Amino acid sequence: MDAMTTAMSIPSARLCTVPATRNLSSSVSFSTATSLLPKVSVTRGASVSLIRCIAEPAEKTTYTTSVNRNANIAKLQAGYLFPEIARRRNAHIQRYPDAKVISLGIGDTTEPIPTVITGAMEARARALSTLEGYSGYGAEQGEKPLRAGIGAAFYADLGIDETEIFVSDGAKCDITRLQLVFGPNVTMAAQDPSYPAYVDTSVMMGQTGLFQSDSQQYSKIQYMKCTPENDFFPDLSSTPRTDIIFFCSPNNPTGASASRKQLEELVAFAKKNGSIIVYDSAYAIYTSDDSPKSIYEIPGAKECAIETASFSKYAGFTGVRLGWTVVPKALKFADGHPVHTDFNRVMTTCFNGASNVAQAGGLACVSSEGLKAMHETVKFYKENTKILVETFESLGFKTFGGKNAPYVWVQFPGKSSWDVFSEILEQTHIVTTPGSGFGPGGEGFIRASAFGHRENILEASRRLKEYFGSKK
Ligand SMILES: Cc1ncc(COP(=O)(O)O)c(C=O)c1O
Repeated sequence: MDAMTTAMSIPSARLCTVPATRNLSSSVSFSTATSLLPKVSVTRGASVSLIRCIAEPAEKTTYTTSVNRNANIAKLQAGYLFPEIARRRNAHIQRYPDAKVISLGIGDTTEPIPTVITGAMEARARALSTLEGYSGYGAEQGEKPLRAGIGAAFYADLGIDETEIFVSDGAKCDITRLQLVFGPNVTMAAQDPSYPAYVDTSVMMGQTGLFQSDSQQYSKIQYMKCTPENDFFPDLSSTPRTDIIFFCSPNNPTGASASRKQLEELVAFAKKNGSIIVYDSAYAIYTSDDSPKSIYEIPGAKECAIETASFSKYAGFTGVRLGWTVVPKALKFADGHPVHTDFNRVMTTCFNGASNVAQAGGLACVSSEGLKAMHETVKFYKENTKILVETFESLGFKTFGGKNAPYVWVQFPGKSSWDVFSEILEQTHIVTTPGSGFGPGGEGFIRASAFGHRENILEASRRLKEYFGSKK
């Protein structure tokens, strides 16, 4: 075999010598927690195979540009929650290199994507290598059959037209693009605790004031407290009017889902105030009871609500990237202009359409076989949830959620969430998510995610029982 020399960048500053194999990616694995990018030269010969990593000297410079930092981004506190957890996890692994760390932390899926879905993606990818099957840019709004398929699978009988469904690269990106539609001059409310992207994108967009360290809140945002005392549904009678209301059900992180009556109350509240609800239904497929799976099950919602959703937690598409947002044409701004037109303008300007391979996967997801396969995977995660609920409850902790969501919200009264996070990591090598990372209302809780291989969930259960059981 000819010797081969390749140059690539890896995020590490150390000098190292590692045996190379045919599959380089499997032979090299380094921490990503540094910005230094040394050159790696790979030499592959017939008899000796080595990778030499040569760290380049760090460039020291005092030069700055004359561009002012975006003052809104400067308002953001620390890092985004999940990179911060990853940082702490990496530090833990450095201290305990032999520990088998189990993650019940970030809500990332773990189980393989059903083959009925990957098969469709494979076929589409292969077709791209043929003259007849090649396609380049597609419609920014998504391919028509997929828009129609999503409509049929998730909004049948709800009066949603396929042209009101925008296919995207995921709900998180759509939340940001929605903020672009709203601009800096709107006021907003979000459940507290909630998925951090609502508050953080609002800060980035300039809708908020500064972070207040006493309340742990950004000024100008209405934090709608959701606690066991109010059944995780905000007290709307004391919630001030805002232009935009972010509402996630089933909720990340609490796992609570709003009942039909509660959502009727929310829609009535929005209509009374002339507000727009951004309803995040990323976990709707996990609903086991008769809670609505879409905000459009509530009469009148089309005039006051946008719904964003995703294949991430339905089909393990967290890496594939595919989601959608519904913007009904009946939803209008104060001057009568349809929100749909402005969202379309943002999508066609800031987005070039979801990957055509991912969309082929999405179309398979909404086929009858795909839907069945997705429900199977969801069932598996829900069994994990049961194990986690049983574990914490058996140890005397109060848990919430878990029934309609892949998250278990565990209460540690009087304790700091980050302290509990650190204690569990230190004592059991298990990563959880501190509740306060989702807003001040999450203080005193941790979120345990049911995304995980069964053996890891069982092992986590065993370790938790061993540690907390011994403390009793
Ligand atoms: C409530 C909620 N919305 C949106 C997302 C992001 O979805 P996507 O992967 O489609 O960007 C997540 C991911 O964890 C989530 O929990």
